[in-house]
Amino acid sequence: MSESFQILVLPGDGIGPEVMAQAVRVLTSIEAVAGMKFNLDYALAGGAAIDAHGTPLLDGTMDRARRSHAVLFGSVGGPKWEGLGFDLRPEIAILRLRKELNLFANLRPATSYKPLIDASTLKPEVIESLDIMIVRECAGGLYFGEPRGIEQLPNGGKRGFNTETYSTEEIERVGRVAFHLARDRRNQVCSVEKANVTESGLVWREVMTALHQREFADVTLRHMYADNCAMQLVRAPKQFDVVVTGNMFGDILSDLASMLTGSLGMLPSATIGTATGERFKPAVYEPIHGSAPDIAGKGIANPMAQILSVAMMLRLSFGMTKEAALVEQACVDALAAGARTPDLGGNHSTAQVGDAVVAQLERLISAPNSIA
Ligand code: NAD
Ligand code: IPM
Ligand code: MN
Repeated sequence: MSESFQILVLPGDGIGPEVMAQAVRVLTSIEAVAGMKFNLDYALAGGAAIDAHGTPLLDGTMDRARRSHAVLFGSVGGPKWEGLGFDLRPEIAILRLRKELNLFANLRPATSYKPLIDASTLKPEVIESLDIMIVRECAGGLYFGEPRGIEQLPNGGKRGFNTETYSTEEIERVGRVAFHLARDRRNQVCSVEKANVTESGLVWREVMTALHQREFADVTLRHMYADNCAMQLVRAPKQFDVVVTGNMFGDILSDLASMLTGSLGMLPSATIGTATGERFKPAVYEPIHGSAPDIAGKGIANPMAQILSVAMMLRLSFGMTKEAALVEQACVDALAAGARTPDLGGNHSTAQVGDAVVAQLERLISAPNSIA
């Protein structure tokens, strides 16, 4: 065993623990081939932590996250905790990790895998070979801007308010991530905001334009309003390479983009705190979906997004490029062999999909020349 990586595993709520169990099986299979040990440190997060400790993320868990090489996050939330104040809700767990670890860029790749070409609600020719990288700013914007709150009005009503803010520094740092990623892809960045209506959008556009001219003139940059972007993602998604946008638009557009790939259960993500090309330490790896209360406990959640998040962790945090590609290939091969949960039109259980991915992984490991 040459190296050892410390991973904080936070399964969370609902389908989180169900899909996490499959992702951990995949990690264990990788250990043997890589001659490497993953030290898994488990903790509660979200509603599970509220029930056990009265808070969505213990300070001690935050410290353990800081000391880890990476955090593997499931999903949090559910109807049981919906009545709580915003500072007490399960969702605080993931927001706090992003904010306090200073992870400002959430990379959400929407990749259309060949075996799933018929699983999308869009026509095959619209999505075939689709490969988009959505870079969502995730430590600022409407999620964190002040002032925010709810006030009582003299007329007996209420007023809820939030603030969208973006500074030059916040835009530049996430912009750099997008431009660096584009250089290793098809060299195109589409920057998305509402510069036609909001000051924060206008500053975003100005800063992205200046950054492009100053540091990334070799990359093609275009700007698009978020409403048009939503429409274009459904009309002609292959026009996009890297999309960079703020916290709220990125949240919405990435759920939208997931359906281009067949299911929300297919999209992994990496939440990082530096421009690419460097090791991210620590970073958070999480599917983009939530705890799916409507299917939790049924054993039918799609574990692919969680497993593919493991692949992103291997590549970005541990530099294990070959092993990351193996995991991705095993997922594609398992899908091609028909291992699909109901969201993809199949009838496999979560565990059966996990079985299939592990089996494909073992096949690929024993026949390394078959790696695409
Ligand atoms: P959701 O993503 O949990 O579910 C939306 C729909 O997609 C549901 O019909 C669900 O069954 C389906 N779905 C999601 N993931 C799936 C998977 N892996 N396999 C098959 N089907 C899947 O969103 P929601 O219902 O709006 O939110 C539920 C809870 O999750 C809320 O409390 C929300 O705040 C929380 N949430 C958490 C995270 C996170 O922890 N990162 C992300 C999004 C939502
Ligand atoms: C996501 C989720 C989170 C977000 C919630 C749970 C706070 O929807 O990761 O996409 O809005 O960022
Ligand atoms: Mn979301």
